[in-house]
Amino acid sequence: MSNGSPAGDDVIVASTSGPLGGEVTVPGAKNSVLKLMAATLLADGRHLLTNVPVIDDVEIMSDLLRAVGLRIEQIAAPAGEVGQHLEIVNTGAITPVAPFEVADRIRASVNLVGPLLTRFGHIDIALPGGDDFGGRPIDMHLRGLEKMGAEFQVTPEGLFGRCGRLQGAAIEFDFPSVGATENIVMAAVLAEGVTVITNAAREPEIVDLCDMLRRMGARIEGAGTDIITVTGVEQSALHAVTHEVVTDRVQAATYMAAVAMCKGDVTVRRANLEHMGMLVERFGEMGVSVTPVEGGARVVCEGGLTSVNVSTLPYPGFATDYKPLVVAMLAMADGTGIVTENLYPGRFRYVEELRKLGAEIDIDGHHAVVRGVGHLRGAIVNAPDIRAGAALVVAGLAAQGITEIRDVHHIDRGYDDIVGRLSSLGASVSRIRRSAGV
Ligand code: EPU
Repeated sequence: MSNGSPAGDDVIVASTSGPLGGEVTVPGAKNSVLKLMAATLLADGRHLLTNVPVIDDVEIMSDLLRAVGLRIEQIAAPAGEVGQHLEIVNTGAITPVAPFEVADRIRASVNLVGPLLTRFGHIDIALPGGDDFGGRPIDMHLRGLEKMGAEFQVTPEGLFGRCGRLQGAAIEFDFPSVGATENIVMAAVLAEGVTVITNAAREPEIVDLCDMLRRMGARIEGAGTDIITVTGVEQSALHAVTHEVVTDRVQAATYMAAVAMCKGDVTVRRANLEHMGMLVERFGEMGVSVTPVEGGARVVCEGGLTSVNVSTLPYPGFATDYKPLVVAMLAMADGTGIVTENLYPGRFRYVEELRKLGAEIDIDGHHAVVRGVGHLRGAIVNAPDIRAGAALVVAGLAAQGITEIRDVHHIDRGYDDIVGRLSSLGASVSRIRRSAGV
Protein backbone atom coordinates (compact mmCIF):
# COMPACT_ATOMS: atom_id res chain seq x y z
CA MET A 1 0.00 0.00 0.00
CA SER A 2 2.90 2.33 -0.49
CA ASN A 3 2.55 5.43 -2.59
CA GLY A 4 4.95 3.93 -5.12
CA SER A 5 8.53 2.85 -4.76
CA PRO A 6 11.38 3.28 -5.15
CA ALA A 7 10.18 6.86 -4.70
CA GLY A 8 13.73 8.14 -4.94
CA ASP A 9 13.59 7.30 -8.65
CA ASP A 10 10.23 8.91 -9.34
CA VAL A 11 9.46 12.42 -10.49
CA ILE A 12 6.19 14.28 -10.73
CA VAL A 13 5.66 16.18 -13.96
CA ALA A 14 3.17 19.05 -13.90
CA SER A 15 2.17 21.28 -16.77
CA THR A 16 -0.05 24.29 -17.27
CA SER A 17 -3.53 23.43 -16.06
CA GLY A 18 -6.90 24.91 -15.34
CA PRO A 19 -9.54 25.81 -14.77
CA LEU A 20 -9.99 22.86 -12.39
CA GLY A 21 -13.41 21.35 -11.75
CA GLY A 22 -15.18 18.46 -10.05
CA GLU A 23 -14.72 16.90 -6.62
CA VAL A 24 -11.85 15.63 -4.56
CA THR A 25 -12.13 13.73 -1.27
CA VAL A 26 -9.55 14.39 1.43
CA PRO A 27 -8.44 11.49 3.67
CA GLY A 28 -7.43 11.49 7.34
CA ALA A 29 -4.64 13.62 8.78
CA LYS A 30 -1.06 12.40 8.97
CA ASN A 31 -0.49 14.50 12.05
CA SER A 32 -3.39 12.83 13.79
CA VAL A 33 -3.08 9.21 12.73
CA LEU A 34 0.57 8.92 13.78
CA LYS A 35 -0.36 9.89 17.35
CA LEU A 36 -3.48 7.69 17.37
CA MET A 37 -1.26 4.77 16.38
CA ALA A 38 1.06 5.56 19.32
CA ALA A 39 -1.95 5.81 21.66
CA THR A 40 -2.83 2.16 20.98
CA LEU A 41 0.23 1.25 23.08
CA LEU A 42 -1.77 2.25 26.16
CA ALA A 43 -4.56 -0.35 25.92
CA ASP A 44 -4.57 -4.05 25.09
CA GLY A 45 -6.95 -5.45 22.52
CA ARG A 46 -7.85 -4.93 18.85
CA HIS A 47 -7.94 -1.27 17.80
CA LEU A 48 -9.29 -0.23 14.42
CA LEU A 49 -8.40 3.10 12.83
CA THR A 50 -10.44 4.16 9.81
CA ASN A 51 -9.98 7.00 7.29
CA VAL A 52 -6.23 6.38 7.49
CA PRO A 53 -4.25 8.08 4.70
CA VAL A 54 -2.13 5.86 2.44
CA ILE A 55 1.18 7.61 3.06
CA ASP A 56 4.73 6.55 3.78
CA ASP A 57 4.79 7.99 7.32
CA VAL A 58 2.01 5.56 8.28
CA GLU A 59 4.17 2.74 6.94
CA ILE A 60 7.23 3.94 8.85
CA MET A 61 5.22 4.37 12.07
CA SER A 62 3.76 0.88 11.53
CA ASP A 63 7.29 -0.55 11.23
CA LEU A 64 8.30 1.23 14.42
CA LEU A 65 5.28 0.03 16.38
CA ARG A 66 5.71 -3.52 15.06
CA ALA A 67 9.32 -3.38 16.25
CA VAL A 68 8.14 -2.69 19.82
CA GLY A 69 5.53 -5.47 19.69
CA LEU A 70 2.21 -4.33 18.15
CA ARG A 71 0.60 -6.35 15.35
CA ILE A 72 -0.51 -4.01 12.57
CA GLU A 73 -2.41 -4.86 9.43
CA GLN A 74 -3.39 -2.50 6.66
CA ILE A 75 -6.84 -3.27 5.31
CA ALA A 76 -8.28 -1.78 2.11
CA ALA A 77 -11.13 0.60 2.92
CA PRO A 78 -14.61 -0.62 1.96
CA ALA A 79 -16.11 0.83 -1.24
CA GLY A 80 -17.19 4.42 -0.77
CA GLU A 81 -14.53 5.20 1.86
CA VAL A 82 -11.18 6.88 1.23
CA GLY A 83 -7.83 5.82 2.59
CA GLN A 84 -7.37 2.51 4.37
CA HIS A 85 -8.11 0.87 7.71
CA LEU A 86 -5.43 -0.09 10.21
CA GLU A 87 -6.03 -2.97 12.55
CA ILE A 88 -3.69 -2.71 15.50
CA VAL A 89 -3.53 -5.53 18.00
CA ASN A 90 -1.85 -4.90 21.34
CA THR A 91 -1.33 -8.12 23.30
CA GLY A 92 0.54 -6.33 26.07
CA ALA A 93 3.79 -8.04 25.03
CA ILE A 94 5.69 -4.82 24.30
CA THR A 95 9.43 -4.17 24.41
CA PRO A 96 9.89 -0.42 24.96
CA VAL A 97 13.06 -0.32 22.88
CA ALA A 98 12.68 1.36 19.47
CA PRO A 99 15.42 0.47 16.98
CA PHE A 100 17.46 3.37 15.66
CA GLU A 101 17.04 2.40 11.97
CA VAL A 102 13.28 2.95 12.20
CA ALA A 103 12.83 5.60 14.91
CA ASP A 104 15.33 7.92 13.25
CA ARG A 105 13.19 8.05 10.10
CA ILE A 106 10.20 9.77 11.62
CA ARG A 107 9.71 12.75 13.88
CA ALA A 108 6.53 11.24 15.36
CA SER A 109 8.65 8.48 16.95
CA VAL A 110 8.95 10.92 19.85
CA ASN A 111 5.25 10.27 20.47
CA LEU A 112 6.13 6.80 21.72
CA VAL A 113 7.96 8.25 24.71
CA GLY A 114 4.88 9.22 26.76
CA PRO A 115 2.86 6.03 26.28
CA LEU A 116 5.83 3.64 26.65
CA LEU A 117 7.15 5.35 29.77
CA THR A 118 3.83 5.62 31.54
CA ARG A 119 2.89 2.01 30.80
CA PHE A 120 6.22 0.18 31.02
CA GLY A 121 8.40 2.44 33.19
CA HIS A 122 11.26 2.67 30.71
CA ILE A 123 12.12 3.55 27.12
CA ASP A 124 15.12 3.38 24.92
CA ILE A 125 14.58 5.17 21.63
CA ALA A 126 16.53 6.91 18.87
CA LEU A 127 16.14 10.67 18.81
CA PRO A 128 13.57 11.83 16.27
CA GLY A 129 14.30 12.32 12.60
CA GLY A 130 11.75 13.78 10.16
CA ASP A 131 11.87 17.09 8.33
CA ASP A 132 14.88 19.32 8.55
CA PHE A 133 13.60 22.78 9.46
CA GLY A 134 16.60 23.59 11.64
CA GLY A 135 16.76 22.49 15.30
CA ARG A 136 13.63 20.70 16.49
CA PRO A 137 14.29 20.20 20.18
CA ILE A 138 12.18 18.07 22.54
CA ASP A 139 13.09 19.86 25.76
CA MET A 140 9.46 20.65 26.63
CA HIS A 141 8.50 16.98 26.27
CA LEU A 142 11.32 15.94 28.58
CA ARG A 143 10.83 18.70 31.18
CA GLY A 144 7.13 17.86 31.44
CA LEU A 145 7.79 14.14 31.87
CA GLU A 146 10.56 14.87 34.41
CA LYS A 147 8.06 16.90 36.40
CA MET A 148 5.92 13.76 36.47
CA GLY A 149 8.83 11.74 37.87
CA ALA A 150 10.72 10.43 34.82
CA GLU A 151 14.50 10.55 34.48
CA PHE A 152 16.25 10.82 31.14
CA GLN A 153 19.67 10.36 29.69
CA VAL A 154 20.33 11.71 26.21
CA THR A 155 23.30 10.18 24.40
CA PRO A 156 24.38 10.15 20.74
CA GLU A 157 22.68 6.70 20.52
CA GLY A 158 19.32 7.98 21.68
CA LEU A 159 17.06 8.77 24.58
CA PHE A 160 16.86 6.55 27.64
CA GLY A 161 14.09 7.13 30.17
CA ARG A 162 13.14 5.47 33.45
CA CYS A 163 10.33 6.01 35.96
CA GLY A 164 8.13 4.41 38.59
CA ARG A 165 4.43 5.17 38.19
CA LEU A 166 4.30 8.71 36.82
CA GLN A 167 2.68 11.29 39.09
CA GLY A 168 0.17 13.91 37.99
CA ALA A 169 1.70 17.39 37.88
CA ALA A 170 1.03 21.02 36.92
CA ILE A 171 2.89 21.54 33.64
CA GLU A 172 3.14 24.93 32.00
CA PHE A 173 4.57 25.11 28.49
CA ASP A 174 6.62 28.12 27.30
CA PHE A 175 5.06 27.54 23.89
CA PRO A 176 2.01 25.45 22.85
CA SER A 177 4.00 22.60 21.35
CA VAL A 178 1.85 20.06 19.51
CA GLY A 179 4.12 17.09 20.17
CA ALA A 180 4.80 17.96 23.82
CA THR A 181 1.08 18.39 24.53
CA GLU A 182 0.36 15.00 22.96
CA ASN A 183 3.14 13.26 24.84
CA ILE A 184 2.20 14.66 28.23
CA VAL A 185 -1.50 13.89 27.69
CA MET A 186 -0.69 10.28 26.80
CA ALA A 187 1.68 9.94 29.76
CA ALA A 188 -0.89 11.48 32.12
CA VAL A 189 -3.61 8.99 31.11
CA LEU A 190 -2.00 6.29 33.31
CA ALA A 191 -0.30 8.57 35.86
CA GLU A 192 -1.34 8.68 39.49
CA GLY A 193 -3.45 11.78 40.14
CA VAL A 194 -4.28 14.84 38.11
CA THR A 195 -2.12 16.52 35.45
CA VAL A 196 -2.96 20.04 34.35
CA ILE A 197 -1.27 21.28 31.17
CA THR A 198 -1.31 25.06 30.79
CA ASN A 199 -0.59 26.75 27.44
CA ALA A 200 -1.47 23.46 25.78
CA ALA A 201 -1.63 23.24 21.98
CA ARG A 202 -5.20 23.39 20.62
CA GLU A 203 -4.90 21.81 17.16
CA PRO A 204 -7.81 19.69 15.83
CA GLU A 205 -5.41 16.73 15.77
CA ILE A 206 -4.97 17.05 19.54
CA VAL A 207 -8.72 17.09 20.00
CA ASP A 208 -8.88 13.94 17.83
CA LEU A 209 -6.27 12.20 20.00
CA CYS A 210 -8.07 13.18 23.22
CA ASP A 211 -11.40 11.97 21.78
CA MET A 212 -9.90 8.58 21.06
CA LEU A 213 -8.18 8.38 24.46
CA ARG A 214 -11.43 9.29 26.22
CA ARG A 215 -13.26 6.56 24.34
CA MET A 216 -10.49 4.17 25.42
CA GLY A 217 -11.37 5.00 29.04
CA ALA A 218 -9.08 7.98 29.76
CA ARG A 219 -10.34 10.95 31.77
CA ILE A 220 -9.47 14.15 29.87
CA GLU A 221 -11.08 17.58 29.93
CA GLY A 222 -10.34 20.77 28.05
CA ALA A 223 -9.02 19.36 24.75
CA GLY A 224 -9.14 22.17 22.18
CA THR A 225 -8.54 24.81 24.88
CA ASP A 226 -5.21 25.94 26.31
CA ILE A 227 -5.76 24.10 29.60
CA ILE A 228 -6.05 20.32 29.43
CA THR A 229 -6.74 18.34 32.60
CA VAL A 230 -6.04 14.62 32.71
CA THR A 231 -7.03 12.47 35.67
CA GLY A 232 -4.98 9.29 35.67
CA VAL A 233 -6.71 5.90 35.55
CA GLU A 234 -5.54 2.32 36.19
CA GLN A 235 -4.33 0.43 33.14
CA SER A 236 -7.22 -2.04 33.55
CA ALA A 237 -9.68 0.83 32.91
CA LEU A 238 -8.44 1.21 29.31
CA HIS A 239 -9.74 -0.80 26.35
CA ALA A 240 -9.28 -0.91 22.57
CA VAL A 241 -11.56 1.15 20.31
CA THR A 242 -12.51 1.85 16.70
CA HIS A 243 -11.77 5.43 15.72
CA GLU A 244 -12.11 7.50 12.53
CA VAL A 245 -9.16 9.82 11.88
CA VAL A 246 -9.99 13.52 11.56
CA THR A 247 -9.73 14.99 8.01
CA ASP A 248 -6.35 16.34 6.96
CA ARG A 249 -6.69 20.13 6.88
CA VAL A 250 -3.32 20.56 5.15
CA GLN A 251 -4.17 18.18 2.30
CA ALA A 252 -7.53 19.98 2.02
CA ALA A 253 -5.70 23.32 1.84
CA THR A 254 -3.46 21.92 -0.90
CA TYR A 255 -6.40 21.23 -3.24
CA MET A 256 -7.86 24.64 -2.39
CA ALA A 257 -4.54 26.28 -3.27
CA ALA A 258 -4.52 24.38 -6.58
CA VAL A 259 -7.89 25.95 -7.44
CA ALA A 260 -6.58 29.35 -6.36
CA MET A 261 -3.59 29.08 -8.67
CA CYS A 262 -5.19 27.34 -11.68
CA LYS A 263 -8.67 28.89 -11.27
CA GLY A 264 -11.79 26.77 -11.21
CA ASP A 265 -14.70 25.56 -9.12
CA VAL A 266 -14.07 22.46 -7.00
CA THR A 267 -15.80 20.69 -4.13
CA VAL A 268 -13.35 19.47 -1.50
CA ARG A 269 -15.20 16.60 0.18
CA ARG A 270 -14.68 16.05 3.91
CA ALA A 271 -12.84 19.38 4.33
CA ASN A 272 -13.80 20.70 7.76
CA LEU A 273 -13.80 24.51 7.52
CA GLU A 274 -14.24 24.81 11.28
CA HIS A 275 -10.61 23.67 11.47
CA MET A 276 -9.44 26.03 8.71
CA GLY A 277 -10.80 29.42 9.77
CA MET A 278 -7.65 31.49 9.31
CA LEU A 279 -6.87 29.92 5.95
CA VAL A 280 -10.39 30.58 4.66
CA GLU A 281 -10.10 34.20 5.79
CA ARG A 282 -6.75 34.77 4.07
CA PHE A 283 -7.88 32.98 0.90
CA GLY A 284 -10.96 35.23 0.85
CA GLU A 285 -8.76 38.33 1.04
CA MET A 286 -6.71 36.98 -1.84
CA GLY A 287 -9.80 36.48 -4.03
CA VAL A 288 -10.53 32.78 -3.42
CA SER A 289 -14.02 31.95 -2.19
CA VAL A 290 -14.18 28.97 0.20
CA THR A 291 -17.65 28.19 1.48
CA PRO A 292 -19.12 25.27 3.42
CA VAL A 293 -21.33 22.81 1.53
CA GLU A 294 -22.91 19.54 2.69
CA GLY A 295 -20.01 17.16 3.46
CA GLY A 296 -17.19 19.57 2.63
CA ALA A 297 -16.31 22.89 1.05
CA ARG A 298 -16.69 24.61 -2.31
CA VAL A 299 -13.69 26.53 -3.62
CA VAL A 300 -14.11 29.01 -6.44
CA CYS A 301 -11.48 31.26 -7.97
CA GLU A 302 -12.13 33.09 -11.21
CA GLY A 303 -9.86 36.13 -11.25
CA GLY A 304 -6.31 37.08 -10.30
CA LEU A 305 -4.98 36.78 -6.74
CA THR A 306 -4.37 39.76 -4.47
CA SER A 307 -1.37 39.84 -2.10
CA VAL A 308 -1.80 39.65 1.68
CA ASN A 309 0.53 39.44 4.66
CA VAL A 310 0.55 36.20 6.65
CA SER A 311 2.11 35.20 9.98
CA THR A 312 2.31 31.57 11.05
CA LEU A 313 1.13 30.87 14.58
CA PRO A 314 -0.01 27.89 16.65
CA TYR A 315 -3.66 26.92 16.13
CA PRO A 316 -6.07 28.65 15.71
CA GLY A 317 -3.51 30.87 13.94
CA PHE A 318 -2.32 30.35 10.37
CA ALA A 319 -0.59 26.94 10.33
CA THR A 320 3.07 26.78 9.37
CA ASP A 321 2.19 23.73 7.26
CA TYR A 322 0.05 25.93 4.96
CA LYS A 323 2.85 28.39 4.42
CA PRO A 324 4.60 27.03 1.30
CA LEU A 325 1.20 26.95 -0.43
CA VAL A 326 0.48 30.58 0.36
CA VAL A 327 3.99 31.67 -0.63
CA ALA A 328 3.47 29.96 -4.00
CA MET A 329 0.12 31.76 -4.38
CA LEU A 330 1.68 35.11 -3.45
CA ALA A 331 4.38 34.54 -6.04
CA MET A 332 1.65 34.85 -8.71
CA ALA A 333 -0.46 37.49 -6.99
CA ASP A 334 -0.86 41.17 -7.63
CA GLY A 335 1.32 43.14 -5.21
CA THR A 336 3.79 42.24 -2.46
CA GLY A 337 3.04 40.00 0.52
CA ILE A 338 5.14 39.44 3.62
CA VAL A 339 5.07 35.98 5.17
CA THR A 340 6.44 35.67 8.70
CA GLU A 341 7.44 32.27 10.07
CA ASN A 342 7.11 32.09 13.85
CA LEU A 343 7.50 28.36 14.43
CA TYR A 344 10.46 27.01 12.48
CA PRO A 345 13.37 29.35 11.78
CA GLY A 346 14.69 27.11 8.97
CA ARG A 347 11.44 26.60 7.09
CA PHE A 348 12.22 28.67 3.98
CA ARG A 349 14.38 26.21 2.08
CA TYR A 350 11.83 25.79 -0.69
CA VAL A 351 12.10 29.48 -1.61
CA GLU A 352 15.13 28.69 -3.73
CA GLU A 353 13.03 26.15 -5.63
CA LEU A 354 10.18 28.63 -6.20
CA ARG A 355 12.75 31.11 -7.51
CA LYS A 356 13.65 28.54 -10.20
CA LEU A 357 10.02 28.91 -11.35
CA GLY A 358 10.53 32.67 -11.62
CA ALA A 359 9.20 33.71 -8.20
CA GLU A 360 10.66 36.89 -6.71
CA ILE A 361 11.15 36.23 -3.01
CA ASP A 362 13.62 37.77 -0.57
CA ILE A 363 14.27 36.30 2.84
CA ASP A 364 14.94 38.66 5.72
CA GLY A 365 15.33 36.74 8.98
CA HIS A 366 12.08 34.93 9.52
CA HIS A 367 10.21 37.02 6.93
CA ALA A 368 9.74 36.20 3.26
CA VAL A 369 8.97 39.19 1.06
CA VAL A 370 7.11 37.86 -1.97
CA ARG A 371 6.65 40.16 -4.98
CA GLY A 372 3.93 38.82 -7.23
CA VAL A 373 5.11 38.28 -10.80
CA GLY A 374 1.81 37.27 -12.40
CA HIS A 375 3.12 34.14 -14.12
CA LEU A 376 5.55 31.42 -13.10
CA ARG A 377 7.44 29.34 -15.66
CA GLY A 378 8.21 25.62 -15.62
CA ALA A 379 11.58 24.30 -14.37
CA ILE A 380 13.20 21.33 -12.65
CA VAL A 381 12.81 21.64 -8.86
CA ASN A 382 13.50 19.51 -5.79
CA ALA A 383 10.97 18.90 -3.01
CA PRO A 384 12.80 19.80 0.22
CA ASP A 385 10.06 18.52 2.58
CA ILE A 386 6.45 17.31 2.53
CA ARG A 387 4.56 20.59 2.46
CA ALA A 388 7.01 22.46 0.26
CA GLY A 389 6.96 19.53 -2.16
CA ALA A 390 3.19 19.72 -2.47
CA ALA A 391 3.38 23.49 -2.99
CA LEU A 392 5.86 22.95 -5.83
CA VAL A 393 3.47 20.50 -7.52
CA VAL A 394 0.64 23.02 -7.29
CA ALA A 395 2.89 25.84 -8.49
CA GLY A 396 3.93 23.61 -11.40
CA LEU A 397 0.30 23.36 -12.50
CA ALA A 398 0.03 27.12 -12.59
CA ALA A 399 3.40 27.73 -14.27
CA GLN A 400 3.73 28.15 -18.02
CA GLY A 401 5.36 25.08 -19.53
CA ILE A 402 6.52 21.92 -17.79
CA THR A 403 7.74 21.54 -14.21
CA GLU A 404 9.54 18.43 -13.01
CA ILE A 405 9.47 17.87 -9.26
CA ARG A 406 12.20 15.60 -7.89
CA ASP A 407 12.71 14.05 -4.44
CA VAL A 408 9.05 13.09 -4.37
CA HIS A 409 9.67 10.69 -1.47
CA HIS A 410 9.19 13.74 0.76
CA ILE A 411 5.70 14.28 -0.67
CA ASP A 412 4.88 10.58 -0.26
CA ARG A 413 5.46 10.88 3.47
CA GLY A 414 2.31 12.97 3.89
CA TYR A 415 0.21 13.01 0.70
CA ASP A 416 -2.15 10.24 -0.30
CA ASP A 417 -2.11 10.07 -4.12
CA ILE A 418 -1.76 13.80 -4.79
CA VAL A 419 -1.23 13.09 -8.49
CA GLY A 420 -4.42 11.03 -8.84
CA ARG A 421 -6.46 13.56 -6.90
CA LEU A 422 -5.22 16.54 -8.90
CA SER A 423 -5.66 14.64 -12.18
CA SER A 424 -9.27 13.90 -11.25
CA LEU A 425 -9.82 17.67 -11.12
CA GLY A 426 -8.50 18.03 -14.67
CA ALA A 427 -4.91 18.96 -13.82
CA SER A 428 -2.10 17.90 -16.17
CA VAL A 429 0.12 16.01 -13.77
CA SER A 430 1.68 12.58 -13.76
CA ARG A 431 4.16 10.50 -11.85
CA ILE A 432 6.97 8.95 -13.82
CA ARG A 433 9.61 6.42 -12.92
CA ARG A 434 12.93 7.94 -13.91
CA SER A 435 14.19 4.45 -14.56
CA ALA A 436 11.55 4.33 -17.31
CA GLY A 437 13.62 6.88 -19.20
CA VAL A 438 12.42 10.31 -18.10
N1 EPU B 1 9.79 23.11 20.24
C1 EPU B 1 10.77 23.28 21.18
N2 EPU B 1 10.86 22.36 22.19
C2 EPU B 1 10.02 21.30 22.28
C3 EPU B 1 9.02 21.13 21.31
C4 EPU B 1 8.92 22.05 20.29
O1 EPU B 1 11.53 24.22 21.13
O2 EPU B 1 10.16 20.50 23.22
C5 EPU B 1 9.70 24.08 19.12
C6 EPU B 1 10.06 23.36 17.82
O3 EPU B 1 11.45 23.34 17.63
C7 EPU B 1 9.35 24.18 16.79
C8 EPU B 1 8.08 24.64 17.53
O4 EPU B 1 8.37 24.47 18.92
O5 EPU B 1 10.12 25.30 16.45
C9 EPU B 1 6.85 23.87 17.15
O6 EPU B 1 6.97 22.53 17.49
P1 EPU B 1 5.76 21.58 17.84
O7 EPU B 1 6.19 20.70 18.97
O8 EPU B 1 4.51 22.37 18.01
O9 EPU B 1 5.61 20.74 16.52
P2 EPU B 1 5.79 19.18 16.30
O10 EPU B 1 4.92 18.43 17.24
O11 EPU B 1 7.22 18.83 16.24
C10 EPU B 1 3.82 19.06 14.59
C11 EPU B 1 3.63 18.54 13.20
C12 EPU B 1 4.31 19.47 12.20
C13 EPU B 1 3.73 20.85 12.35
C14 EPU B 1 3.89 21.32 13.80
C15 EPU B 1 3.27 22.68 14.06
C16 EPU B 1 3.56 16.16 13.52
C17 EPU B 1 4.19 14.83 13.31
N3 EPU B 1 4.21 17.21 13.09
O12 EPU B 1 5.23 19.04 14.83
O13 EPU B 1 3.95 18.97 10.92
O14 EPU B 1 4.42 21.73 11.48
O15 EPU B 1 3.26 20.37 14.70
O16 EPU B 1 1.95 22.69 13.73
O17 EPU B 1 2.45 16.25 14.05
C18 EPU B 1 4.25 18.41 8.64
O18 EPU B 1 3.21 17.76 8.74
O19 EPU B 1 4.80 18.64 7.53
C19 EPU B 1 4.85 18.94 9.87
C20 EPU B 1 6.10 19.35 9.94
